Amino acid sequence: MNKNYYITTPIYYPSAKPHMGHAYSSIIADFFARFKKIEGFNVFFLTGTDEHGLKIQRAAEKNNKNPLEFCDEISKTFKELSKTLNLSNNDFIRTTEKRHYKSVQNLWNILEEKGEIYLSKYSGWYSVSDEAFYSEDEIEEINGTKSAKLSGSSVEWVEEESYFFKLSKWQDKLLQLYEKNENFILPKSRKNEVVSFVKSGLKDLSVSRKSFSWGIQVPTNKDHVIYVWLDALTNYISALNYPDVGNDLYKKYWPADLHLIGKDILRFHAVYWPAFLLAANLPAPKRIYGHGWILSGDVKMSKSKGNILDPIEIINKFGLDPLRYYLLKEVSFGNDGNISEDKLISCINSDLANNFGNLCQRVLAFTDKNLDLEVPEPDNFNSEDLNLLDNFSKNYQNLVEFINQQNINSYMNFIVDQMFLSNKYFNDQEPWKKKDNRKRLNTIIYTSLELIRKISMLLYPVIPSSALKALDIFNIEEESLNLESIKNNKFLKPKLKINKINILFNKVNVDD
Ligand code: ME8
Ligand code: MG
Repeated sequence: MNKNYYITTPIYYPSAKPHMGHAYSSIIADFFARFKKIEGFNVFFLTGTDEHGLKIQRAAEKNNKNPLEFCDEISKTFKELSKTLNLSNNDFIRTTEKRHYKSVQNLWNILEEKGEIYLSKYSGWYSVSDEAFYSEDEIEEINGTKSAKLSGSSVEWVEEESYFFKLSKWQDKLLQLYEKNENFILPKSRKNEVVSFVKSGLKDLSVSRKSFSWGIQVPTNKDHVIYVWLDALTNYISALNYPDVGNDLYKKYWPADLHLIGKDILRFHAVYWPAFLLAANLPAPKRIYGHGWILSGDVKMSKSKGNILDPIEIINKFGLDPLRYYLLKEVSFGNDGNISEDKLISCINSDLANNFGNLCQRVLAFTDKNLDLEVPEPDNFNSEDLNLLDNFSKNYQNLVEFINQQNINSYMNFIVDQMFLSNKYFNDQEPWKKKDNRKRLNTIIYTSLELIRKISMLLYPVIPSSALKALDIFNIEEESLNLESIKNNKFLKPKLKINKINILFNKVNVDD
């Protein structure tokens, strides 16, 4: 069985500092990466910044900086955000790095040698904001401004010599790829969009620009820079040391298991990227998941609209783990969602503090007072104990499947239910009334501790630092996390000394 897992986020444009939309993709990717890791996979998780093209060149000019200096500054804020979000990424790639130039120019050379690229002239519409070419029927005019129907961003007319990639030639192969790999594009609704776009007929794609210079040169023609999307998409293999396809990273991790992206950039990932790869005789990635947007009001949050929410602000106010929990639980994955402070507060107060946090504190306090902070020896479990404990072993395979299908909603529902049921169990069992039935008391506390352990494991991908704090109770360390152990109802060793921990989640006072 292949125990390697490669997951990527988009590489973001450092045209302005990151906002909540970027944080969203990164947190979701981190969630999957951490789950696969504790499931026992070797995980490679990549993120980074996409630094070439006219969009960046113009943003730099506007700020009176040279493009590289400009990118250095803003790319740094993305890198810092990846730390603030507690991402477990293995690498952070910048397209201005040498390793990436080498990789892109090599891919270009192969495409050119294979006759997949030819020189001609482009005349048509271009959106700098999307870095995308649009055909006449994808354009509409609103108040005298021509813009792309798909994104609403304005377009300009471009007429210049350009290299073209023979995209039209790959139409049938792409359709076969979508058909053979049923889940190549998820969610399903997005797949249908892509399939109908491809079926409507693909035109050859302009893959170089001549009228500006901020990009990677076409190796065989110094007057052209390579189209920024051909450049950017290649990052996913540059980070694996392509063109050295014999090296360990490439051999272990290509093709990628999951390119996690927003639905705004589906066409580039699900059409252009596999076409480039197939044309170069390289394997296509296994899956593209196009998630929904974080909205501001009812429109997409974006730099160009200026309606952004700074994730740092929310983190400073409420903490990182509450934000991660909120994004994973309250935004129905695959659909658009909003950030609501009220709902975020209710996540903290009800789910985290009242349910899980409360359970931990009460069980610990009780164990401290009555059991010397030692895991007791359980007697026989009764059906109430087993009902709860067995939920985890019975659902282990389902949970793995949820993650393999990017079904975050079902995963989160499971956790929320277990937190609620476990807290209720402790209440209902009333161990404080069982002091003359030590066997039963011990079994209740043992069961409660096991439930805390199992829930913490499942919370680890969601809220890693809080989950690790909870696992500190048992001296369980991050490096030793192994998800399969949630199937074991007697994992905790009787007599194990347990640790008291500080309050996990501080309630937010709503009267503030
Ligand atoms: O498109 N809601 O970069 P970008 C949810 N450089 N996710 C959002 C979002 C929102 N409101 N806004 C942005 C690019 N995102 C290219 C990618 S990849 C080879 C090159 C997330 O800075 C989402 O993942 O515009 C979206 O696809 C990505 O950021 C776009 O970031
Ligand atoms: Mg964008």
